[in-house]
Amino acid sequence: MCGIVGYIGSKNSAEVIYNGLEKLEYRGYDSAGIAVISKNEILTRRSVGKLKNLKANLETNPISGNNGIGHTRWATHGKPCEENAHPHTDCSGKIVVVHNGIIENYVSIKKQLISEGHIFKSETDTEVIAHLIEKYYKKDVLEAVKSALKEVRGAYALAVICADEPERLIVARYDAPLVVAKGKDENYIASDVSALLNYARDFIFLENGDICEIKKDSIKIFNGGKEVKRETQKILWNAVQAEKAGYKHFMLKEIYEQPQTILDTFRGRLSSEQNTVLLDGINITKDYLKEISKIYIIACGTSYHAGLTAKFVLESLTVIPTEVDIASEFRYRDHVINEKTLVIFISQSGETADTLAALRLAKQRGSKTLAICNVVGSSISREADNVLYTHCGPEIGVASTKAFTGQLTVLYLIALDFATKLDTISKDKLETLVKYLWDLPVKVTECLKQADAIKKIAKEFHAKKQFIYLARNLNYPIALEGALKLKEISYIYAEGYAAGEMKHGPIALIDETMPVMVIATKSKIYEKVLSNIEEAKARGAKIIAIVNADDKEIAKKADYRIEVPETDEIFSPVINVIPLQLFAYYVSTMRGCDVDQPRNLAKSVTVE
Ligand code: G6P
Repeated sequence: MCGIVGYIGSKNSAEVIYNGLEKLEYRGYDSAGIAVISKNEILTRRSVGKLKNLKANLETNPISGNNGIGHTRWATHGKPCEENAHPHTDCSGKIVVVHNGIIENYVSIKKQLISEGHIFKSETDTEVIAHLIEKYYKKDVLEAVKSALKEVRGAYALAVICADEPERLIVARYDAPLVVAKGKDENYIASDVSALLNYARDFIFLENGDICEIKKDSIKIFNGGKEVKRETQKILWNAVQAEKAGYKHFMLKEIYEQPQTILDTFRGRLSSEQNTVLLDGINITKDYLKEISKIYIIACGTSYHAGLTAKFVLESLTVIPTEVDIASEFRYRDHVINEKTLVIFISQSGETADTLAALRLAKQRGSKTLAICNVVGSSISREADNVLYTHCGPEIGVASTKAFTGQLTVLYLIALDFATKLDTISKDKLETLVKYLWDLPVKVTECLKQADAIKKIAKEFHAKKQFIYLARNLNYPIALEGALKLKEISYIYAEGYAAGEMKHGPIALIDETMPVMVIATKSKIYEKVLSNIEEAKARGAKIIAIVNADDKEIAKKADYRIEVPETDEIFSPVINVIPLQLFAYYVSTMRGCDVDQPRNLAKSVTVE
């Protein structure tokens, strides 16, 4: 989730762009860069780390020009370093590009371009775009961008300038946000409005497939080969509202980003043509998988709940015994792991001290390690033998939401990849499951439409002192996660239980003061969950049930229903967690709690 800014007019674009990038730093900040056109020459400055490093660079080596582009990077392909920082250039150095998104087919494009003589300077997927534009360039950068994008698959918000055409700034968008802001004899572009509110109020929100030629006094938008018109909207947000894209809290924004972040995490790993999973870049072969005796998953907090869910999925699809452990527990007990154990570490930040220490222990024991992280270049991602990133962008709310569904997404991909390699899944079943996976973003969007209904239920329950969350099987970890969300941000005492275990103790807690949240979507043990609802109801509990939309049975038993779309049971955790995140969010706001920075908690726990 990088940030892009561009300017064309009569001001010094480097200054405008830097100011805009400052407002986008929340989108990622492992490096930044600016390129401007000055006397038909491209001048570029790039720096690793926070934006202030770029500022120091610009102060020592100033650049100026009336047409320029800039970028703040959240690494996806290639570690954070100057070579990988944007802007990226073609071989001639005359065409420069900044990009937010993921080019799914960059490996094959890069191979082809290298065979044609292009020389690459970075590990990024973005650089292929600069070289592709160069390949098609015949003194018209707009036409060259149009031709280049025909070859590209994936997501992009793109800005391009060309030294030989200083009066044009070309931008394009597909599945990544990009806005154009209108000024008087000057125009701007950015990833979102927050970057430009100090300069402009009239915005055009580009749509998928738009390619746009921007001059200081004109904006032309093309889509599908034709010129198109897009409405201009006046944006009156203040700076704080804009950073959160108009949402009241980062947590709510991040909850709503999930359809996109799940899709971004699929990118390049899930083939829609063949309905297969392609996990390039990890060295886990069929022969290795046949040799191992177990998988061990280690994590903390919400990431641990992703691990617990994965146990069900991995054991069901790959038949490899899978254990899950809390990192702080794993460190101090006599565990049986060795070179026949694959150890998977899950960490949003990649910096959690206990998880990092557990990783080092596993490596000492000779186990192969695989990390699932959201932050590229983080300690865990660097030290593990293999890493798969969730492409969720920075998560700012302390209570993890989009990183969790991103982790689940990667874990599903791993399970399907391993099952394919081990031949424990039939071709038909694989195809069916991949189709269900592709449908997840749309189904998560449907869940989000329940927000108003969930808010009403939250209103009824926000003053309660305690809560029980029940579910079974794959959704049991989701009951734990729902309860954790409520604890973290609303400070209500909440416990998650495996519903079948209720009669062995927790049932003693149930009376009319104890609300019970039950996950009761369709599953092979649906009827058993119904019985658990009866047991709680008989003791006076008020029942809130998460159910599939067409469920008539629960309507008779639950006091409140939250409807979610049906999917294959294996993917139901991704769907069912969404209403629980929203419920915790609304309860927290109604109690006046600090949603994004709850008391006593930290986003990244780097001490033991
Ligand atoms: C902290 C955060 C949680 C997170 C946990 C693990 O407690 O508040 O949201 O789940 O750390 O963090 P990690 O970055 O390793 O996933």
